Formats: sequence, C-alpha cells, structure tokens
Amino acid sequence: MAGKVFFSVSMSLDGFIAPESTDELMGRQWMELQRWVFPQRFFRENLKLGEGGEEGRDNDILRETFERTGASVMGKRMFDAGERAWPEEAPFHTPVFVVTHEKRDPWERPGGTTFHFVDDGIETALERARDSAGDRDVRIAGGGATILQYLNAGLIDEFTIALSPVLFGSGIRLFEGVDASRVALEPVRTEHSPRVTHLTYAVRER
Ligand SMILES: NC(=O)c1ccc[n+]([C@@H]2O[C@H](COP(=O)([O-])OP(=O)(O)OC[C@H]3O[C@@H](n4cnc5c(N)ncnc54)[C@H](OP(=O)(O)O)[C@@H]3O)[C@@H](O)[C@H]2O)c1
Repeated sequence: MAGKVFFSVSMSLDGFIAPESTDELMGRQWMELQRWVFPQRFFRENLKLGEGGEEGRDNDILRETFERTGASVMGKRMFDAGERAWPEEAPFHTPVFVVTHEKRDPWERPGGTTFHFVDDGIETALERARDSAGDRDVRIAGGGATILQYLNAGLIDEFTIALSPVLFGSGIRLFEGVDASRVALEPVRTEHSPRVTHLTYAVRER
C-alpha cells in the first residue's frame, strides 16, 4: 500500500519558515524558530550530539516523523544549506531526492542517506521517492518553494506545522503564492507542549 505524502515544518507565528538568506541559518531567528527541537533526545541521538535530552511529546513527534518517512524530497536551497551544516552521517538515513536544475551524480553518505539530484521536475522526484519509500510515507522536507509546488499541484495529503512563539517580520513565507482556490484544509489534530503548538491538517481539493 502506498504511503502518504506529507510535510512537517517549524513556522513562526507570522508565517515564515526561514530567514531570507541561508547565511542567517543558525542566527537568532532560526534558533528561536527551532528552539523546541534542539533539546529533544531524538534530535540529539540522530545528530550524534550525545546522550540525554528531553523525552515528552515534542520528542515523540520528532521520532514518529522520522520513523514514518521512507524517503524525502527537498529543494536545492535547503540541500545547499544542509550540505554545509549536516554532519558526515546526514540525519535522513533514507534516500533523499533533491529537486534541482543542476545535473549531479548521487551523493552517498555513511548511515544510509543517499542524495539523488532530479532535474526533470517535482513529479519525477516524487515518483522516485514513492518507489524508494515502499509502504512508508514520503516527506517533502522543504523549503518553502518546493513545498508550495507540491501543495499547488495537489500532491500533498497531510501536513504538520510546529507553530513557534517567534515573530520574523520577513523571510521565506510558507504559503506565499498558494493556490487558495484549489487547496482546502481539514483539521486532523492539535497538540501543544510548553515550547510549541503542533497543527496537523489533511489537504483536500476544493
Ligand atoms: N522551518 C523549517 O522547518 C524548514 C524546513 C525545511 C527548510 N527550511 C528552510 O527553507 C529554506 C529553503 O527554502 P527555499 O524556499 O528558499 O528553497 P527550496 O525549496 O529549498 O529550494 C528552491 C530551489 O530548488 C530548486 N528547485 C525547486 N523546484 C524546482 C523545479 N521544479 N525544477 C528544478 N529545480 C527546482 C531550484 O534550485 P536550482 O535552480 O538552484 O536547482 C530552486 O531555486 C532554507 O533556509 C531551509 O533551511 C525550513
């Protein structure tokens, strides 16, 4: 049975998922946006940052999101930022399909992550991700431009936003350019922790 196609991102209260420039990743805004992630046990384990960490619902959500994902798709800007920041053992441990105009050979990392560069469109990237994921789900990992294309094409089944208590004022807006005449949402669940509010929606066509 084919899995779902989903995305799961952290968003500021005013709707941004990243500062405009990837040079500002690890800057104050990014750290505030992702503050709920860094202390979690699963995050620390997955990035080999050492023992310990928090174990509440935020941690379970990170672990469940990882475990349901059989393959990921991401845009080239997210990949470029990650290529600089991820450790040698990249934190996906599955195939990752990078949507890009660039031609590049697959890049295999220790620990099970292989990045495949797909230069013939979002549908091909998703098809290849579905084939790799088997009965697990495909995560559209980001960033905003890539998520938006999948959303507007009607290819997202479900998404979760971790709404962080921070205001950006400017940056990369998650829903900038969404085809609101086509995309309708159905609430699935809301969960909150002391750090963040997790909002999950199913996507329906209008
Ligand atoms: N808050 C969160 O949870 C979260 C999650 C994920 C990512 N992010 C952040 O999001 C930011 C990146 O987002 P973004 O919206 O700027 O960029 P993006 O979606 O990561 O990448 C866009 C780039 O991907 C390539 N691309 C996308 N669609 C394509 C298509 N159909 N055909 C060919 N190439 C295509 C193009 O690059 P080329 O033309 O160069 O190939 C395009 O410029 C990063 O700062 C990242 O850290 C945040």
